[in-house]
Amino acid sequence: MNSVSITPGKNNVGAYINDVNLNKLNSGLAIQIKDILNKYGVIFIKKQNLDSNAYQNFAKSIGQLVEYPRLKGLKNFPYINVLERKPSDKSLAFGGSWLHQDTSYLENNRPRYTMLMGIEIPEGQGNTIFSSGFNAYKNLPDEIKQKIKNAKGVFSSAGPISKTRLELEKRAGIQSAKVLEAEHPIVQKVNGQKTLYVSPGHLLKIKNIDEGEKIKNFLINHVNKEEFIFSYEWSKGDLVLWDNLSVMHKASEIKNCSRIMHRITIK
Ligand SMILES: [Fe+2]
Repeated sequence: MNSVSITPGKNNVGAYINDVNLNKLNSGLAIQIKDILNKYGVIFIKKQNLDSNAYQNFAKSIGQLVEYPRLKGLKNFPYINVLERKPSDKSLAFGGSWLHQDTSYLENNRPRYTMLMGIEIPEGQGNTIFSSGFNAYKNLPDEIKQKIKNAKGVFSSAGPISKTRLELEKRAGIQSAKVLEAEHPIVQKVNGQKTLYVSPGHLLKIKNIDEGEKIKNFLINHVNKEEFIFSYEWSKGDLVLWDNLSVMHKASEIKNCSRIMHRITIK
Protein backbone atom coordinates (compact mmCIF):
# COMPACT_ATOMS: atom_id res chain seq x y z
CA MET A 1 0.00 0.00 0.00
CA ASN A 2 1.07 3.58 -0.56
CA SER A 3 2.51 5.39 2.39
CA VAL A 4 0.43 8.23 3.74
CA SER A 5 1.62 11.81 3.39
CA ILE A 6 2.42 13.88 6.45
CA THR A 7 3.11 17.54 7.19
CA PRO A 8 4.95 18.48 10.39
CA GLY A 9 3.11 20.74 12.84
CA LYS A 10 4.38 24.23 13.68
CA ASN A 11 7.81 24.22 15.34
CA ASN A 12 8.09 20.57 14.35
CA VAL A 13 5.60 19.54 17.00
CA GLY A 14 3.78 16.42 15.82
CA ALA A 15 2.50 15.77 12.31
CA TYR A 16 -0.64 16.17 10.26
CA ILE A 17 -1.64 13.00 8.46
CA ASN A 18 -3.09 14.07 5.14
CA ASP A 19 -5.70 12.52 2.87
CA VAL A 20 -6.80 9.59 4.98
CA ASN A 21 -10.34 8.47 5.65
CA LEU A 22 -10.55 6.54 8.92
CA ASN A 23 -13.97 5.24 7.93
CA LYS A 24 -11.98 3.02 5.60
CA LEU A 25 -9.38 1.85 8.10
CA ASN A 26 -7.37 -1.27 7.32
CA SER A 27 -4.52 -2.89 9.21
CA GLY A 28 -1.82 -1.52 6.88
CA LEU A 29 -3.02 2.03 7.41
CA ALA A 30 -3.36 1.50 11.17
CA ILE A 31 0.27 0.32 11.43
CA GLN A 32 1.51 3.35 9.49
CA ILE A 33 -0.47 5.72 11.67
CA LYS A 34 0.85 4.18 14.88
CA ASP A 35 4.43 4.47 13.59
CA ILE A 36 3.93 8.14 12.80
CA LEU A 37 2.36 8.70 16.23
CA ASN A 38 5.29 7.14 18.07
CA LYS A 39 7.83 9.02 15.96
CA TYR A 40 6.20 12.47 16.12
CA GLY A 41 4.41 12.29 19.48
CA VAL A 42 1.12 13.76 18.32
CA ILE A 43 -0.89 13.40 15.12
CA PHE A 44 -3.58 15.63 13.66
CA ILE A 45 -6.11 14.10 11.27
CA LYS A 46 -8.49 16.75 9.98
CA LYS A 47 -12.25 16.48 9.47
CA GLN A 48 -12.92 12.79 10.02
CA ASN A 49 -16.38 13.12 11.64
CA LEU A 50 -16.41 9.45 12.63
CA ASP A 51 -19.44 7.88 14.26
CA SER A 52 -18.78 6.39 17.69
CA ASN A 53 -18.31 2.91 16.27
CA ALA A 54 -15.67 3.95 13.72
CA TYR A 55 -14.00 6.20 16.31
CA GLN A 56 -13.73 3.36 18.80
CA ASN A 57 -12.50 0.95 16.11
CA PHE A 58 -9.71 3.31 15.18
CA ALA A 59 -8.74 3.65 18.86
CA LYS A 60 -8.59 -0.14 19.18
CA SER A 61 -6.14 -0.28 16.28
CA ILE A 62 -3.73 1.82 18.40
CA GLY A 63 -3.98 -0.15 21.65
CA GLN A 64 -6.12 -1.34 24.51
CA LEU A 65 -8.93 1.01 25.52
CA VAL A 66 -9.06 2.16 29.11
CA GLU A 67 -12.05 3.40 31.08
CA TYR A 68 -11.39 6.79 32.58
CA PRO A 69 -13.35 6.80 35.84
CA ARG A 70 -13.20 10.53 36.35
CA LEU A 71 -15.28 11.41 33.30
CA LYS A 72 -18.69 10.25 32.14
CA GLY A 73 -18.85 7.68 29.34
CA LEU A 74 -21.13 7.80 26.31
CA LYS A 75 -24.20 5.56 26.38
CA ASN A 76 -23.30 2.21 24.75
CA PHE A 77 -19.68 3.38 24.37
CA PRO A 78 -18.24 3.44 27.88
CA TYR A 79 -14.72 4.07 26.53
CA ILE A 80 -15.77 7.32 24.89
CA ASN A 81 -15.79 10.12 27.46
CA VAL A 82 -17.65 13.32 26.79
CA LEU A 83 -15.92 16.60 27.56
CA GLU A 84 -18.52 19.29 27.46
CA ARG A 85 -18.15 22.99 27.90
CA LYS A 86 -21.25 25.16 28.26
CA PRO A 87 -21.53 28.91 27.63
CA SER A 88 -22.29 29.44 31.32
CA ASP A 89 -19.11 27.64 32.47
CA LYS A 90 -16.81 30.11 34.13
CA SER A 91 -14.10 27.79 35.32
CA LEU A 92 -10.92 26.87 33.52
CA ALA A 93 -11.25 24.19 30.87
CA PHE A 94 -10.42 20.64 32.04
CA GLY A 95 -6.68 20.31 31.82
CA GLY A 96 -6.26 24.03 31.37
CA SER A 97 -3.48 26.36 32.47
CA TRP A 98 -0.67 23.83 32.99
CA LEU A 99 1.17 21.72 30.46
CA HIS A 100 0.95 18.11 31.53
CA GLN A 101 1.15 14.46 30.53
CA ASP A 102 -2.05 12.60 31.33
CA THR A 103 -2.02 10.31 34.39
CA SER A 104 1.70 10.74 35.11
CA TYR A 105 0.71 10.18 38.78
CA LEU A 106 0.07 6.47 38.15
CA GLU A 107 2.91 4.10 38.95
CA ASN A 108 2.72 1.07 36.67
CA ASN A 109 0.81 0.33 33.55
CA ARG A 110 -0.42 3.87 33.09
CA PRO A 111 -2.33 4.68 29.89
CA ARG A 112 -0.05 6.00 27.23
CA TYR A 113 -2.18 7.67 24.57
CA THR A 114 -5.03 10.17 24.66
CA MET A 115 -7.30 10.90 21.72
CA LEU A 116 -9.85 13.64 21.16
CA MET A 117 -12.36 14.17 18.40
CA GLY A 118 -14.07 17.54 17.96
CA ILE A 119 -17.86 17.10 17.99
CA GLU A 120 -18.94 20.69 18.48
CA ILE A 121 -16.25 23.31 17.97
CA PRO A 122 -16.55 27.05 18.60
CA GLU A 123 -14.88 29.38 16.17
CA GLY A 124 -11.73 31.26 17.09
CA GLN A 125 -11.05 29.79 20.53
CA GLY A 126 -10.40 26.60 22.43
CA ASN A 127 -7.08 25.63 20.86
CA THR A 128 -5.20 22.72 22.40
CA ILE A 129 -1.58 23.55 23.08
CA PHE A 130 1.17 20.97 22.63
CA SER A 131 4.82 21.02 23.65
CA SER A 132 7.25 18.46 22.26
CA GLY A 133 9.32 16.59 24.84
CA PHE A 134 11.58 15.34 22.01
CA ASN A 135 12.45 18.86 20.88
CA ALA A 136 12.72 20.19 24.42
CA TYR A 137 15.18 17.44 25.36
CA LYS A 138 17.26 17.85 22.20
CA ASN A 139 17.70 21.55 22.89
CA LEU A 140 18.82 21.26 26.50
CA PRO A 141 22.38 22.37 27.30
CA ASP A 142 24.69 19.33 27.55
CA GLU A 143 25.41 20.15 31.15
CA ILE A 144 21.71 19.82 32.04
CA LYS A 145 21.39 16.58 30.02
CA GLN A 146 24.23 15.16 32.12
CA LYS A 147 22.68 16.34 35.38
CA ILE A 148 19.23 14.88 34.76
CA LYS A 149 20.40 11.54 33.36
CA ASN A 150 19.24 9.54 36.38
CA ALA A 151 16.80 12.01 37.89
CA LYS A 152 13.30 11.00 38.85
CA GLY A 153 10.22 13.15 39.03
CA VAL A 154 7.59 12.82 41.74
CA PHE A 155 4.18 13.30 40.12
CA SER A 156 0.92 13.83 41.98
CA SER A 157 -2.76 13.99 41.09
CA ALA A 158 -2.87 16.85 43.59
CA GLY A 159 -0.26 18.81 41.61
CA PRO A 160 -0.84 22.38 40.39
CA ILE A 161 -3.33 21.31 37.68
CA SER A 162 -5.73 19.53 40.07
CA LYS A 163 -7.95 22.60 40.43
CA THR A 164 -9.65 21.96 37.03
CA ARG A 165 -10.19 18.27 37.77
CA LEU A 166 -11.81 18.97 41.13
CA GLU A 167 -14.19 21.37 39.44
CA LEU A 168 -15.20 18.75 36.90
CA GLU A 169 -15.66 15.99 39.46
CA LYS A 170 -17.93 18.24 41.49
CA ARG A 171 -20.08 18.88 38.44
CA ALA A 172 -20.29 15.19 37.50
CA GLY A 173 -21.17 14.31 41.09
CA ILE A 174 -18.09 12.13 41.36
CA GLN A 175 -16.45 11.90 44.73
CA SER A 176 -12.92 13.08 44.61
CA ALA A 177 -10.55 10.14 44.48
CA LYS A 178 -7.66 9.86 46.88
CA VAL A 179 -4.40 11.51 45.96
CA LEU A 180 -2.23 9.36 43.71
CA GLU A 181 1.51 9.76 43.48
CA ALA A 182 4.18 8.10 41.35
CA GLU A 183 7.85 8.42 40.41
CA HIS A 184 9.20 8.19 36.89
CA PRO A 185 12.52 9.00 35.19
CA ILE A 186 12.27 12.48 33.68
CA VAL A 187 14.24 11.35 30.63
CA GLN A 188 12.38 8.67 28.72
CA LYS A 189 13.09 6.93 25.44
CA VAL A 190 10.49 6.44 22.72
CA ASN A 191 11.56 4.66 19.53
CA GLY A 192 15.19 5.37 20.36
CA GLN A 193 14.57 9.10 20.78
CA LYS A 194 15.03 10.73 24.17
CA THR A 195 12.22 12.85 25.49
CA LEU A 196 11.63 15.05 28.51
CA TYR A 197 8.94 13.73 30.84
CA VAL A 198 8.24 16.49 33.35
CA SER A 199 4.44 16.97 33.30
CA PRO A 200 4.53 20.45 34.94
CA GLY A 201 0.88 20.17 36.04
CA HIS A 202 1.69 17.15 38.23
CA LEU A 203 5.37 17.52 39.09
CA LEU A 204 6.04 18.04 42.80
CA LYS A 205 9.81 17.64 42.87
CA ILE A 206 12.82 16.11 41.18
CA LYS A 207 14.87 13.49 43.04
CA ASN A 208 18.35 11.96 42.62
CA ILE A 209 19.88 15.28 41.72
CA ASP A 210 21.55 18.31 43.31
CA GLU A 211 19.57 21.54 43.24
CA GLY A 212 16.36 19.66 42.36
CA GLU A 213 14.13 22.68 42.92
CA LYS A 214 16.26 24.89 40.65
CA ILE A 215 16.38 22.25 37.91
CA LYS A 216 12.62 21.71 38.22
CA ASN A 217 11.93 25.40 37.64
CA PHE A 218 14.42 25.51 34.79
CA LEU A 219 12.80 22.55 33.01
CA ILE A 220 9.25 23.84 33.46
CA ASN A 221 10.29 27.15 32.00
CA HIS A 222 12.13 25.33 29.19
CA VAL A 223 9.18 23.20 27.99
CA ASN A 224 6.95 26.29 27.99
CA LYS A 225 9.22 28.15 25.54
CA GLU A 226 7.45 29.34 22.39
CA GLU A 227 9.90 27.42 20.18
CA PHE A 228 8.61 24.02 21.40
CA ILE A 229 4.91 24.90 21.29
CA PHE A 230 2.20 24.30 18.70
CA SER A 231 -1.24 25.72 19.43
CA TYR A 232 -3.66 23.55 17.49
CA GLU A 233 -6.83 25.15 16.14
CA TRP A 234 -9.73 22.69 15.91
CA SER A 235 -12.30 22.15 13.21
CA LYS A 236 -15.37 19.99 13.68
CA GLY A 237 -14.59 16.31 13.15
CA ASP A 238 -10.82 16.64 13.70
CA LEU A 239 -9.08 13.84 15.46
CA VAL A 240 -5.98 14.46 17.54
CA LEU A 241 -4.07 11.63 19.16
CA TRP A 242 -1.00 12.01 21.34
CA ASP A 243 1.60 9.94 23.14
CA ASN A 244 1.82 11.09 26.75
CA LEU A 245 5.43 9.91 26.98
CA SER A 246 6.72 12.37 24.42
CA VAL A 247 4.27 15.26 24.25
CA MET A 248 2.81 17.63 26.84
CA HIS A 249 -0.50 19.39 26.33
CA LYS A 250 -2.88 21.88 27.89
CA ALA A 251 -6.22 23.48 27.10
CA SER A 252 -6.35 27.17 26.26
CA GLU A 253 -8.79 29.60 27.75
CA ILE A 254 -12.35 29.35 26.45
CA LYS A 255 -15.45 31.34 27.36
CA ASN A 256 -19.08 32.04 26.46
CA CYS A 257 -19.42 29.17 24.01
CA SER A 258 -20.30 25.49 23.74
CA ARG A 259 -17.82 22.85 22.92
CA ILE A 260 -18.04 19.06 22.91
CA MET A 261 -15.10 16.71 22.57
CA HIS A 262 -15.10 12.94 22.65
CA ARG A 263 -12.10 11.51 24.41
CA ILE A 264 -10.65 8.00 24.41
CA THR A 265 -7.80 6.84 26.65
CA ILE A 266 -5.55 4.10 25.25
CA LYS A 267 -2.88 1.84 26.77
FE1 LIG B 1 -4.86 16.29 29.75
